[in-house]
Amino acid sequence: MDMTTSAVWFAIAHVFMFALIFKVARGGITAHPPPRSRPPPPPVVTGTCIVGLLRTLVTKGFREMIQDQYTKLGSVFTISVFGLKTTFLIGPEVSAHFYQGLESDISHGKILEFTVPMLGKEVGYGVDIATRTEQNRFYVDALKPAKLRCHVGSMLQEVEKYFVKWGHQGTADLKQELEQLLMLISARCLLGKEVREQMFDEVFSTFHELTDNSLRLISLLFPYAPLPTTQRRDKARARLSKMFTEVVRSRKSSNRFEEDVLQNLIDSKYKDGRPTTDAEVIGLIIAILFAGKHTSSTTSTWTGARLLNHPQHLESVIKEQQQIVRKYGDNIDYNTLLEMSILHCCIKEALQMHPPAPTFLRKVHTNFTVQTREGSEYEIPRGHTIASPLVISNNIPYIYKDPDVYDPERYGRGREEDKVGGKFCYTAFSGGRHACPGEAYAYMQVKVIWSHLIRNFELKLVSPFPETDWLKVAPEPKGKVMVSYERRPLPI
Ligand code: HEM
Ligand SMILES: *[C@@H]1O[C@H](CO)[C@@H](O)[C@H](O)[C@H]1NC(C)=O
Repeated sequence: MDMTTSAVWFAIAHVFMFALIFKVARGGITAHPPPRSRPPPPPVVTGTCIVGLLRTLVTKGFREMIQDQYTKLGSVFTISVFGLKTTFLIGPEVSAHFYQGLESDISHGKILEFTVPMLGKEVGYGVDIATRTEQNRFYVDALKPAKLRCHVGSMLQEVEKYFVKWGHQGTADLKQELEQLLMLISARCLLGKEVREQMFDEVFSTFHELTDNSLRLISLLFPYAPLPTTQRRDKARARLSKMFTEVVRSRKSSNRFEEDVLQNLIDSKYKDGRPTTDAEVIGLIIAILFAGKHTSSTTSTWTGARLLNHPQHLESVIKEQQQIVRKYGDNIDYNTLLEMSILHCCIKEALQMHPPAPTFLRKVHTNFTVQTREGSEYEIPRGHTIASPLVISNNIPYIYKDPDVYDPERYGRGREEDKVGGKFCYTAFSGGRHACPGEAYAYMQVKVIWSHLIRNFELKLVSPFPETDWLKVAPEPKGKVMVSYERRPLPI
């Protein structure tokens, strides 16, 4: 045994002895091992502080209110109003369990109950966890990259056809135009050509009637009360269901197969081999329409407003399009879309600054512990509602440099600020167990639209940069977003 080895052994023995002595000594002082101490609950805002809180809410809005508490109390705190306890978890360090926790420990609870009369009791929160998990797999399968390739051509056709009507030059409300265009794309790629060609107007006006009446405050609070709003909702649901049932039945009876998402849902099978029923297919397709419509149209509008407001980024996107056209000609397919990485970052940054779903909520069924970045531990008790407010967590300065500045390059090579902060610091599409299955599809739509616009028009934002309308259930650009356009071929 040489000197070094013996020195190591001596050190190990020494540490071991010390540990033993220490343990015995402690044992001597406390006859029984102390009960394992539980971390304290998070700091609570109650009583008189609530008055101040409400004042901030009314005068400055939700975001400022939460930001104030975050600055004062740190990344974990509880707001208690009328015995209702909501604990805010801000930042990736304290968010892992929120996104990844088992459905039995943490779930949407009754928060999404209002979706049952809207989507039907055959899907989502109308069925048990196991069935819901399988149905979620149907979404993931129907929207996976291998399936998406075939939609590029149809999306392009819709986009080209739509902008023909713009003519040579003019002004338009971008928000309204893109909303309309995205409905046409959804009709074609999600619902299929029967709806797109024969019943577009009827389907989308009924769908609007359904969602509008489902999202009224009164329907959210009392989804089953016999009120005019809930009755209008139920009538619209029945009408929509009838139209979609005809489409599904006619495809089945004539043995016709299409490439759209509806077809994928018709062909989906549960683990035990059972195929989806007509009612399930209809619930699933309404849910997809609902999940993708407003999110995609606000994202396309914000992306445009941001680009037109930041000439240097617009210039980078134009250069990228020129390079791609030089390489592939006018042709756009799935792979060309994947090469539009600058445009991708511009969409990603627009989403980061204007997340269509700005706060996620869950219900806690089993106590859990979080540790903050500073090392404090807190136990969040069962019964609490927990909230992950993106409007705050997207703006954490130790993760995102100058978060208020529109800076798509933060996601580029060398910086990748969304990755260095850890797994749950970019959550516009949520993450973990409930991550949006439509993410790739959403990017595809927005890229098809914006690459077309940039290749064919010179655009200018002629109204002021839009504010956010927080009064909508899902926030959107306030008022009209007016652009002037002039058709010109992209100089190559
Ligand atoms: C920019 C556009 C989009 C954004 C920002 C977005 C965001 C999200 C988020 C945050 C969730 C999870 C909500 C939660 O955890 O409570 C979600 C769920 C979902 N999204 Fe998206 N989404 C977008 C577009 C789409 C599109 C285009 C589709 C379909 C074509 C889609 C389909 C879905 C579905 C089916 C769910 C529910 C998944 C489940 O039940 O767990 N989304 N989306
Ligand atoms: C959960 O937390 C609550 C409140 O702190 C506590 O009363 C309860 O005993 C805890 N439950 C478990 C199983 O630890």
